[in-house]
Amino acid sequence: MNQFEQRLKDDAQRTNQALHTCLDTSGNDPQEVVFQAMRHSLLDAGKRLRAALVLEFGRMSGADPQGAMALACAVEMVHAYSLIHDDLPCMDNDDFRRGKPSCHKAFGEANALLAGDGLLTMAFETVASAGLPEPARMEAVLALSRAAGARGMIGGQVIDLESEGKQISAQRLDTLYALKTGALLRAAAALGCIAGNAPQEVRSAADAYAAAYGLAFQITDDILDVVGDAEKLGKPVGSDGQNQKTTYTTLFGIDGARQRAAEQIQKAVQSAKQLPDNGFLLWLAEQVLTRDH
Ligand code: IPE
Ligand code: IPE
Ligand code: MG
Ligand code: MG
Ligand code: MG
Repeated sequence: MNQFEQRLKDDAQRTNQALHTCLDTSGNDPQEVVFQAMRHSLLDAGKRLRAALVLEFGRMSGADPQGAMALACAVEMVHAYSLIHDDLPCMDNDDFRRGKPSCHKAFGEANALLAGDGLLTMAFETVASAGLPEPARMEAVLALSRAAGARGMIGGQVIDLESEGKQISAQRLDTLYALKTGALLRAAAALGCIAGNAPQEVRSAADAYAAAYGLAFQITDDILDVVGDAEKLGKPVGSDGQNQKTTYTTLFGIDGARQRAAEQIQKAVQSAKQLPDNGFLLWLAEQVLTRDH
């Protein structure tokens, strides 16, 4: 394992520990079932890439590690909520996620809906109570809420659903992906910068890196939905076809999609090169092109 793989693993482990603490309960509350559902979808699984981006940009900008970790937890909560809702029968209708039954399969639709709501809400509680100076917490609330909301991730999910069964242009698909996937990854990079009050040049390069990374990441998600292994992915393959989604593979074929992902990774690499101590970011970007989960 190289030093960057080790760093990703360590960050994921520390994020998992912190998330456990956030969702700790005595087990005696009458609403315990919603915590069970939240734990089911949030804890001990997922690649923690968004957390890793927060933590890496936090380190780069000299952030307080615990403060940055709170923001990393918050973005993973928003992400997990988005996946719970994404899997619901009224959305992508997928029965597996992160190697186990999706939240609604394990806890029923109403509890899954509420577990998603609970995670989204807890994300902002976590940001607001992070051990960071007040201006950083407010800035983080703003960045995360904009990224998650109707002008960000939610907006992308709406366009995604509206586009099912229709031919949409490459341009529309890029807008959709920039919102449904790119917005939260950009927010992760921004939150790390906010935690350490990074200078504007770092923030701009971080944002460009995350935007290109995000598009490449969603393109490979599309590719893996066609050629991936459900066991390795921990989620079903063929879901996009079943839902009649336009994806990078339907528009450009597998090879065309791979080529476009590689172009985005080149862009991410160029942005990382404008940043100090960029080894991890360069390595992370290259991983997207060979990932199998
Ligand atoms: C899945 O994200 C949803 C997309 C934006 C493609 P990830 O592939 O990062 O999912 P986890 O967090 O590792 O489960
Ligand atoms: C997911 O896109 C985007 C969000 C959850 C916001 P997908 O629907 O392609 O993600 P997977 O493939 O189910 O993980
Ligand atoms: Mg979806
Ligand atoms: Mg989906
Ligand atoms: Mg997908």
